[in-house]
Amino acid sequence: MSAEKSFYVTTPLYYANDELHIGHAFSTLSADIISRYNRSMGRSVHFLTGSDEHGQKVEQAAKARGLTPIEHTDSLVGKFKSLWELLDITYDDFIRTTEDRHKKVVCYALNELWKKGDIYEAEYSGWYCTPCERFWTEKEVPDKMCPDCKRAVQEISEKNYFFKMSKYQQQLIDHINANPGFIRPENRRNEVLGFLRQPLGDLCISRPKSRLSWGIELPFATDYVTYVWFDALTNYISAVGYPFDMEKFNRIWPASCHLFCKDILTTHAVYWTTMLMALGLKLPECIFAHGWWVTGEGKMSKSVGNIINPRELVARYGLDPFRFYLFREMVFGMDATYTEDNFVLRYNADLANDYGNLCQRMLPMLIKNREGQFHKVAPKLPQSIEIAEMAGAIKKDYTTAMENFLFHEALKRIWDLIQRLNKYVDETAPWKLAKEQNWATLDEVFYTIGEGIRFVSLLVEPFMPHLAPEFLRQIGCHNDRVSLDKLAWGQLADGTRCTEPAPMFPRLETERIQNLKKGSKGEKVEKAPAKTKEVAAKPAEISAEEGLVSFDDFLKTELCIARIETAEKVENADKLLKLTVNTGDETRTLVAGIAAFYKPEELLGRQVVMVKNLKPAKIRGIVSHGMILAAATEDGGLALVSPDKPAKTGIRVK
Ligand code: MSP
Repeated sequence: MSAEKSFYVTTPLYYANDELHIGHAFSTLSADIISRYNRSMGRSVHFLTGSDEHGQKVEQAAKARGLTPIEHTDSLVGKFKSLWELLDITYDDFIRTTEDRHKKVVCYALNELWKKGDIYEAEYSGWYCTPCERFWTEKEVPDKMCPDCKRAVQEISEKNYFFKMSKYQQQLIDHINANPGFIRPENRRNEVLGFLRQPLGDLCISRPKSRLSWGIELPFATDYVTYVWFDALTNYISAVGYPFDMEKFNRIWPASCHLFCKDILTTHAVYWTTMLMALGLKLPECIFAHGWWVTGEGKMSKSVGNIINPRELVARYGLDPFRFYLFREMVFGMDATYTEDNFVLRYNADLANDYGNLCQRMLPMLIKNREGQFHKVAPKLPQSIEIAEMAGAIKKDYTTAMENFLFHEALKRIWDLIQRLNKYVDETAPWKLAKEQNWATLDEVFYTIGEGIRFVSLLVEPFMPHLAPEFLRQIGCHNDRVSLDKLAWGQLADGTRCTEPAPMFPRLETERIQNLKKGSKGEKVEKAPAKTKEVAAKPAEISAEEGLVSFDDFLKTELCIARIETAEKVENADKLLKLTVNTGDETRTLVAGIAAFYKPEELLGRQVVMVKNLKPAKIRGIVSHGMILAAATEDGGLALVSPDKPAKTGIRVK
């Protein structure tokens, strides 16, 4: 076994209380991409992911399903793993916090800190938020609402066990100051330093069993379980051998990077790092907090109904376009908004027009004129020389970007080369060279394009692990490939023979998208998906029409002002209200998912905007005919759309 230190990357352990969405998928994909990149750079990689299975949230979710906690988490872990399989995540280890190998280490760490006096017992009173499982001080909750989730907190006084986090405050500040790359990006580092300007409190690491039994028992106080964050964070060392297999541990630890989203920055930057200091262990080399994926309606949440399901998108558009889109769109570290229109625009522009088209326009000419063979000739055209130099510079920038987790930057540089290559085809016009029988120049042009496709495909492979090799296969060099650390311009062997090109990214036209949507939702697809369109010989401009509807189409949706006459709760459905509304010419019944935000009596007499010509649907046995419009508010609530002065009931909105 090699003693080389592994590149060790981790994802958060996702709570086993619900299914995963694109936000979770994104974090795991980022770890997958960085793992694939590092492997291809010739490094040994250890990639860890897993599930966080203890605590109140999981206990409550299990209860709601009528299952024991472990039955509940077993079923969710199965789903997590099948999602990672679908997304082709190349993790080396999946750790569950309910496994013995993990629980043993949590107990060991607790005992060590207890013996050392870094854990002590004290009476504590504070304001407790059950869903977030954390205490707040009086000052932090002036309105008695949790600052994180905005739900009511309760005052609780009890004996508990505390980790002396405050003892390590200065050591942590010094470490952050001495290691500028430790907390990334820069704004998150400043945020943590700002937080550490206030005196750091100690961390309550126990929960009395009387309140919560689903957790790891404290080894020195058996009527308590361990606070779920102390438990879960320990996974990063329990999974790699600490303290029972120190040979393995020393080969893997410290982590090269903990990847997660900014929502859990404090727990990683402060709780975890001070825990490691107390245990006398090295700190991770880097912790990287990326931004949120949000939708037009704000943060993804079940109650707003704006959860984006990765399975649906993969079924609709394919895995590699999905992986590409997420990392091209989000500036890693900042928030990004997901919209399907934007997905389609990027797909058509970057994948269909740029990358896909390059192969599609060149290989048939190579087959027709040079029997599909690339001939390596010394470049004479200034553009060929320029492209060779550009490729070298791009590889350098790409490497710098990847070493710093700047995925969007890496993809942008690859696309600079793809676009330059497409322009090169226009400039050199190989179809004319063929007509003139200028074989020497034609070979040079084909070689530059073929080599360009090989080069970009190898760079893009960590993002598109299935289609990039397919491009290599089409140009004929898949059996003759190099790893990223060896990649240099000019390695495409003389005499390499291409294969028949197959369309890789069929353009997404409106009709095709609609068919794909039906298919990926499991509905019956009425028409066979439209046949792949011929890819234009020249990169087409993105149609300005894409994603837009004409005024005539807009008018097909009949919006009107309706007045709410009655409102009542729907039995056994917490979120639904049954409304009757006056639409000017009739009274309609409809069901609206607004019960969490409006009391029935608040709605009476209110004018709202309604979609009048929506097909009726049966919801909980009630025929709902029409839909009222609402928008998510910034604080996670919901606002009904209403005219800003009284309007005529029934009048059309346009
Ligand atoms: N169990 C804790 C983590 C313990 S780590 C030792 C937890 N779990 S979680 O299921 O809530 O996952 C949170 C993580 O999921 C985020 O930090 C992020 O990595 C990912 N995301 C969840 N929603 C997200 C978005 N909307 N956007 C981007 N990432 C998001 O916290």
